[in-house]
Amino acid sequence: MMRIINSFLLVCLATICIGQSNGGMWLPNLLAELNEEEMQSLGMQISAQDIYDVNTGSLKDAIVHFGGFCTGEVISAQGLVLTNHHCGYGQIQSHSTVEDNYLDDGFWAMDRAEELPNPGLYVKFINKIEDVTAYATNGVTDDMSLEARNEKISENLKIFKEKVSLGEFEELEVKAFYAGNQYYAFYTISYPDVRLVGAPPSSIGKFGADTDNWVWPRHTGDFSLFRIYADKNNNPAAYSEDNVPYTPKHYLPINISGAEEGDFTMVFGFPGRTNEYLPASAVAQTAKVVDPARVAMRDVALKVMDKYMRSDEATKIKYASKFASIANYWKKWIGEMQGLERSKAVAKKSAYEQDFQSRLETNQEWLTKYGTLLAELNETYAQLQPYAEVNAYHSELTGRNTLMLNVAYYMDRLANLYETDGPEAYESFKGRLLNYLQGQYKNYDEEVEAEVFAALINLYFEKVPGKFLDQELMPIIGKTKEQANAFAKALYKSSQLTNFEQLEVILALPAEEAIAAIQTDEMLKFYQKLNNPFKTTVEPYYKKYNDRAIDLQRTYMEAQLEVFSDKRFFPDANSTMRVTYGQVKGYYPKDAVYYGTHTYLDGVMEKYVPGDYEFDVPTKLIHLHNKKDYGDYAAENGKLPVNFIASNHTTGGNSGSPAIDANGNLIGLNFDRAWEGTMSDINYDPAICRNIMVDARYILFIIDKYAGAEHLIKEMTLVK
Ligand code: ARG
Ligand code: ASP
Repeated sequence: MMRIINSFLLVCLATICIGQSNGGMWLPNLLAELNEEEMQSLGMQISAQDIYDVNTGSLKDAIVHFGGFCTGEVISAQGLVLTNHHCGYGQIQSHSTVEDNYLDDGFWAMDRAEELPNPGLYVKFINKIEDVTAYATNGVTDDMSLEARNEKISENLKIFKEKVSLGEFEELEVKAFYAGNQYYAFYTISYPDVRLVGAPPSSIGKFGADTDNWVWPRHTGDFSLFRIYADKNNNPAAYSEDNVPYTPKHYLPINISGAEEGDFTMVFGFPGRTNEYLPASAVAQTAKVVDPARVAMRDVALKVMDKYMRSDEATKIKYASKFASIANYWKKWIGEMQGLERSKAVAKKSAYEQDFQSRLETNQEWLTKYGTLLAELNETYAQLQPYAEVNAYHSELTGRNTLMLNVAYYMDRLANLYETDGPEAYESFKGRLLNYLQGQYKNYDEEVEAEVFAALINLYFEKVPGKFLDQELMPIIGKTKEQANAFAKALYKSSQLTNFEQLEVILALPAEEAIAAIQTDEMLKFYQKLNNPFKTTVEPYYKKYNDRAIDLQRTYMEAQLEVFSDKRFFPDANSTMRVTYGQVKGYYPKDAVYYGTHTYLDGVMEKYVPGDYEFDVPTKLIHLHNKKDYGDYAAENGKLPVNFIASNHTTGGNSGSPAIDANGNLIGLNFDRAWEGTMSDINYDPAICRNIMVDARYILFIIDKYAGAEHLIKEMTLVK
């Protein structure tokens, strides 16, 4: 009997512990209705209203969309903002010179005057979130085409936006949720004066670099500090010496007692994009066709870069950032493929679809509306597949892996713009383009890139079916690596676009002469030859079937909400503010191996490889470790916590998000996910999906004991 009760309890506990068994990224304004009870059953002590309240300061008022690509949070009454080192990386890099290399050495403003402005960077707060589905979908009918529907909705929203009264400096954004079944308006306010306050050296902020990226156990101090400035009335203002630190409506106190296995945590931020409601056929397509194509292309590009980076220090510096960013998703997709396989995502989705279908059978109305939906989805994804595959190869080829095809793409656009929109549009685009490209060319090496290019086109011509390729190019590139290399070398030699100064000279010519020079350039001619068959034989079909899939996914989402009205669905991530919650929790990465919840500074020292570009440790940190000089920041076991994991459902864009404890205090800083669970964007599995956070105590220790920036600690509120 006891046994039965125990196992019953265990099951209960397991489901309670896991909380949302399919994960969840929830809208903060709906927590009271959908999540509060569960959050409190998991240990949360505060209320949904403490998290989201439009009338008084609540947790949401401490959370910012950082530059539109990451999350940050306010941690002092003087507008101090915490985010990741990898989120502030561009800013830290932009202030670095050979003499003052803040990436290598770190940066700490010792007073306000030393804080560094960052043109272009902004933070955005959310004042209010409102359901505007009724306005948006007014007059929309089921029989409308996707285009007609979208047109009607944008018309409706245009009228809505004209009617809404906004506060001073307030802006309005409306976004689609549940695949276009619901619409929410976000009242936002952005601050454009955001200054760099502090960053640890990369040997702390990026410790473990690419080898440890997406991996637990982890030992990275991935944080940096910024400050929001406002005008004298606390309003947004462009950078000015007269600006003063921003006074927030709320800032997060920091709990230096940390959290232990089983403790409640939530992560508040701006997750970018997930696809949690795909049918099995689409999941299989990602795992078997699209991810492998992207990975294969990046494999060859990274191999070439790595070879050159290893043999030459200057090349290593030039390519470090590009390599890291290409490698980041390369690694993520490998993890995603493995995770989808291991979590049996396709079988899980198939079982779900059977359940869906059998529920339809119980209701004639549903059957009429949705009876053939899954079959149509499957057919559409099958039709899409060959085009999705070529599209994946093509976007890796022409996207970010080589600069030249990117430049060719922009030059092509520039020339077309002159034709379609006239000289003014041309000049304005040209200005922005030159500005952007100048930075890109700084990290460009012709020899490295020509070889990357050769490897990519060689693979492209090998993998993409002949009917989608230019027939003249095929025999020139298609066969051997040597052939591709020779072709690339010659092409790079003959093109004028391989050098920024040359490009500037060309673009300084009167528009029509410049366009003529661009259009006769060998690189552009190659780009067009490569692209023309894609434009005519792939793109239109890709778009056709993809649009159809989007349309069907909306209906599928609508159907799931209706047919599983007993279930709770969260909307896929779309770069809007969300709350996810779970518990600090270890996991079994494989049979008999259990990963604990926390790593410690001792583990940093275990990984230490003197002089290594990924695993070097700064001398001062070694000394602090030797003396166990941890200040107030050691855990109860006497060790200094570095990172920890929990079952919060996060994705790209959640970097820099605060991990918050049961009482609304900051305990950590989200920055990554664990390898075995990187498929969580498509199939969240509570057994193995974990987010990785920097322990707040490590952040404080680095600021205080390592950097000696006690003045920053003083402006924070620490609680135990
Ligand atoms: N994987 C994390 C995220 O997607 C961290 C990336 C930054 N770190 C790196 N080694 N590239 O963005
Ligand atoms: N590292 C990611 C980010 O930069 C977070 C994640 O994908 O888990 O947003």
